Amino acid sequence: MIDLMKKHTLILSALISTTLFFGCASGQSLLANVTGNTSTTVAKPKSRPMVDSSKEAQLNIPYRSLDTNKDLTLIGMGSCADQNQPEPIWKTIKEANPQLFIMMGDNVYASQKENKPIIDQYIKMNQITEYKDLRESIPFLATWDDHDYGQNDGGADNPEKDEARRVFLNYWSYLKFTMPKEQNGVYHSRIIGTKNRKVQIILLDTRWDRSPLTKNPDYNAETNTEQPPKIYLPNEDKNARMLSEDQWKWLDQELAKPANLRLIVSSVQLIANDHYYEKWGNYPKERERFFNLLKKHKAKNAVILSGDRHLAAIAKEDVKGLGLVYDVTSSSLNKPSRTVVAEIDKSYTAPSFLKPNFGLIAIDWTKKTLSAQIMDEDKKVQLEQEIKF
Ligand SMILES: [Fe+2]
Repeated sequence: MIDLMKKHTLILSALISTTLFFGCASGQSLLANVTGNTSTTVAKPKSRPMVDSSKEAQLNIPYRSLDTNKDLTLIGMGSCADQNQPEPIWKTIKEANPQLFIMMGDNVYASQKENKPIIDQYIKMNQITEYKDLRESIPFLATWDDHDYGQNDGGADNPEKDEARRVFLNYWSYLKFTMPKEQNGVYHSRIIGTKNRKVQIILLDTRWDRSPLTKNPDYNAETNTEQPPKIYLPNEDKNARMLSEDQWKWLDQELAKPANLRLIVSSVQLIANDHYYEKWGNYPKERERFFNLLKKHKAKNAVILSGDRHLAAIAKEDVKGLGLVYDVTSSSLNKPSRTVVAEIDKSYTAPSFLKPNFGLIAIDWTKKTLSAQIMDEDKKVQLEQEIKF
C-alpha cells in the first residue's frame, strides 16, 4: 500500500497541472475539482458519513477522477461482480480501452450472512488486481443494486440501508464530496463533453424508496420446472413506487438540462417485461410514469442501461409519442446464472447471452449514432445494436 501511495503521489504531481488526477477513497487528499457537472472546487463537507475507522483506510484505492470537459466516444459498463471469485474480465475490459466505466449495481455481494459486514466486501474487491488496475487507468461511476444495498431484492424496508449507504459513499468517494447532504439514496448524474457532444449519465437509485415486491403466492422455490420461476407479480397499488417523489422531481430537473445523448442507468431492467424477476414492470404505474417523463422532455436521445439479471440482452419498446426506447442489459461480470437456456422476451432483439460479459457504448458523433455492444471475456461481440440519438 505504501508503494502504491508513493506512486499515487508521483502521478498526482505529474497530473496536477491538467484536469486529470487520482483521488483516494479516504478523502484525505482528494482534490475534487472535476467530480461534478460544474467542474468547480468542492470544499470538504462539514460532516461526512462515518464508517469503522480501522477499516476505512482499506477502502482507499487510487482512482482516476472524471474530466467532464473531455468528449466521450467509448464507455464501458457492467454489473454483478462477486468479490469472492476471480474477476479476470477486468483485463479484457482494459484491453477494450473504454474512457469511462459505469458500475450498474451488485458491484459487490454483501447481502448474505457470510458476506457481512458490507465494508469487508469492498475491501475484498480492492484486492482484485485486474479491477484495481482499471480503477487506476480510467474513471468510474457507480450506482447500486440489491446486493451492494445489503439485502437480496431489498427495497425501502431494508434495515441495513443506512450502513450500506455510508459504505457506498465512502467507497465511491467522488459522491461523498458532491452529493447534497439532505439527499437520501445514491442517485446522481454527470454531464460530460463539449458543445454538441454532451453525454448526460443519469444513475438512478432503484432501491432506497422502492415499495415491497408482490410475491406470487403460487411460487415455490423448491419446485424445479422447465419454465422460469414466477417469483414476483406486478404491484398494482397506486402508491407503489420505484423512486421517491424527491428522486422523480430530481429526474425531471435532470431531463430538462441540455444534453446530446442521455444514458440512464437503472440497476433493474426497464423494458423487458415477460419475466417474473425484478424489473420496472413490477410497478406498472412507475414504469408508465418513467415513459411519460421521457415524453414530457421529448427525450428521444435517452438510452437505458441496466444490470442485475445475470444475463445480457438488448431490449426495445416502441413507446407511443416517443419512439423506440432501448434498454441495454449487461450482467454479470463474473457471476453467471446456472441457467443454460437463453431468455427470450418479446422486447429482446436476440436471445440473451448468459456467460460473463460487459457492455460497450461506442459513440459516433458525426452520424449521431451509438453502437451498444455486449462483449464476452474473449472480447468477442455477442450482441450489438446501432441506436440513433
Ligand atoms: Fe440485483
